[in-house]
Amino acid sequence: MDDLIKKAAEDIAAARQVTALTGAGISVESGIPPFRGKGGLWEKIDPMEYAHIDAFSRDPEKVWEVLIKGMKDILDTAEPNDAHKGLARLEKFGKLKTIITQNVDGLHQTAGSTDVIEFHGNFAWQRCTDCGDRCRTSDISMEKIPPRCHCGGIYRPDCVFFGEMIPPDALLRSRTLAMSCDVMLVMGTSAMVQPAAYMPVLARENGARVIEINPEPTPLTGHISDYIIQGSGGVVMNGIIARLEGLS
Ligand code: OAD
Repeated sequence: MDDLIKKAAEDIAAARQVTALTGAGISVESGIPPFRGKGGLWEKIDPMEYAHIDAFSRDPEKVWEVLIKGMKDILDTAEPNDAHKGLARLEKFGKLKTIITQNVDGLHQTAGSTDVIEFHGNFAWQRCTDCGDRCRTSDISMEKIPPRCHCGGIYRPDCVFFGEMIPPDALLRSRTLAMSCDVMLVMGTSAMVQPAAYMPVLARENGARVIEINPEPTPLTGHISDYIIQGSGGVVMNGIIARLEGLS
């Protein structure tokens, strides 16, 4: 693993513009379970029954009770880990410009990253399904499920449910960045969900080096990514940052 960490640090040092694509795995070390794989949320509940917009429209109480309430409990107290902090350091070094994240936990911003595209929206805000009024998730009363706005409408998180569109500006900007970066770091994503998983493909097609950081191989491994550093995000990022500091 050390050789690959050294290689990644050299590739980043030589790059003009690095873009990162992150997924649930980057927040595992912050105590947030991933969706797929061992201990993943979709092992316990069926995403089509709880995370699809049609499921929410049919029975918002059930989705709040089983999915959203639990997410709120975990995200309310989660803190960034070394992987988030490492990416924030890469921005300070002037190498990493933008993070495209599929996560809704806001931990990249808490760690200090300033340019984060929230591909699947964010959990920090709720919006009323009737009047569109927005409210901080931390200010929502959980006494009655589903929580309701002053107009009587039901709140929903400002996240993208399955069956909904990616926010168009997030998609457009991500595509442009994927096509213009010369290194893409792909960290903590199973690369199973489109169109996020297409960003490394676009990067590769446009000549970028694609580096995966993930304990497990993904469908990108050996096809789209140039190499994979098989380890946890925090450990690998600490290694890369230490190397970059040594190089500078
Ligand atoms: P997944 O849960 O599909 O994948 C998590 C990935 O993180 C896996 O490839 C793991 O091997 C890896 N992983 C686990 N621990 C790690 C660690 N400590 N460091 C680095 N990597 C680690 O998560 P996503 O790819 O983000 O969408 O899932 C994509 C989308 O599917 C989510 O945004 C969500 C979900 O359904 C919606 O809800 C719309």
